[in-house]
Amino acid sequence: MKTQVLPVTEESIQLAARLLRQGELVALPTETVYGIAADARNGEAVHKIFEAKGRPQDNPLIVHIFGMEMLEGVVAEVPARARKLAAAFWPGPLTMVMPRGPEVSDVTCAGLDTVGVRMPSHPVVQAVIRTSGVAFAAPSANLSGKPSPTNAQDTLADMDGRLPLILDGGESMVGVESTVVSVVGEHPMLLRPGYITKEQMEAVLGEEVLVSPAILEKLKDGEVARSPGMKYKHYAPKAQVTILRGDFAAYRTFLEQHKEEGVWALCFDGEGAQLPVPYIEYGKNHDGVTQAHHLFTALRDLDRHGARIVYARCPEQDGVSMAVYNRLIRAAAFRVVTL
Ligand code: TXA
Ligand code: MG
Repeated sequence: MKTQVLPVTEESIQLAARLLRQGELVALPTETVYGIAADARNGEAVHKIFEAKGRPQDNPLIVHIFGMEMLEGVVAEVPARARKLAAAFWPGPLTMVMPRGPEVSDVTCAGLDTVGVRMPSHPVVQAVIRTSGVAFAAPSANLSGKPSPTNAQDTLADMDGRLPLILDGGESMVGVESTVVSVVGEHPMLLRPGYITKEQMEAVLGEEVLVSPAILEKLKDGEVARSPGMKYKHYAPKAQVTILRGDFAAYRTFLEQHKEEGVWALCFDGEGAQLPVPYIEYGKNHDGVTQAHHLFTALRDLDRHGARIVYARCPEQDGVSMAVYNRLIRAAAFRVVTL
């Protein structure tokens, strides 16, 4: 299959809408990362997503809508907490897990009785949904296991020949995937951290949001992930990544002791020039927002440079940094060393 990359125009939006209605795949920009869209009601179409990504079939997809009226048929009910969170954060990078409605294909939900839904703020996604009338399922546009793409070039690198169209809408603003929160249980529970933080949701809900244990630690054998995506190896570059927890002086000393061919540093802005090894900077220290924006491109860049061993500076674990830490420990296969 030939993959076309088109700039965003009225014609390319029309083409994307037509492809979606015909049950084809379209890769497109969202405010978080690039996604691969297919009609969420059409099981055959959604099946193509799993094939294009090489994604395990038991990992459910997020349904993307525009306008609250589109929830009809997608969810069975809108819990009170979901209404509050939607009023505060939609359109935006928040996915809510709700009781599943009758119109969503089994393939989209991987057979679960819940469905993850989000209303993106990116104007290109909004235009495609409005033009097609299609609520679409869309995972990140990477090959399964690789870092999510945040621009059209990285999307093409993974998806060339696997789908007919990539809409090029420039860099994704946020850089990591949406926050996923479940509002079906007794207590709201964070299943995947993102740009909308636990603290922000707690302020809106007036109650504690629990944190799924799979977010910051490796699941023990036999433990069940509430968000199936959390159990897979994820975001992994080819290099072996280790996170070094400690201050900059200790980090630099460690690198002096461990420098060899193929060793790279993944550090914060302004630090690289002081290090004895080649480096990539991934955002400002203590600033989850800039780290989230750069992390996935940085991981892909390390591959492009042929890095073999990567030592990464450790982000914080609250606010938006929780999302950065969550992605980085997976890229590092949970190797964290305290200096
Ligand atoms: O920002 C995003 O959410 C991007 C863009 C393209 O919108 N999409 C995305 O989709 O990240 P994906 O498929 O890569 O991640 C979906 C995550 C997975 O961790 C999955 O397990 C979880 O959401 N999820 C989806 N439906 C769920 C459900 N019903 N219950 C629990 N977790 C669910
Ligand atoms: Mg993904």
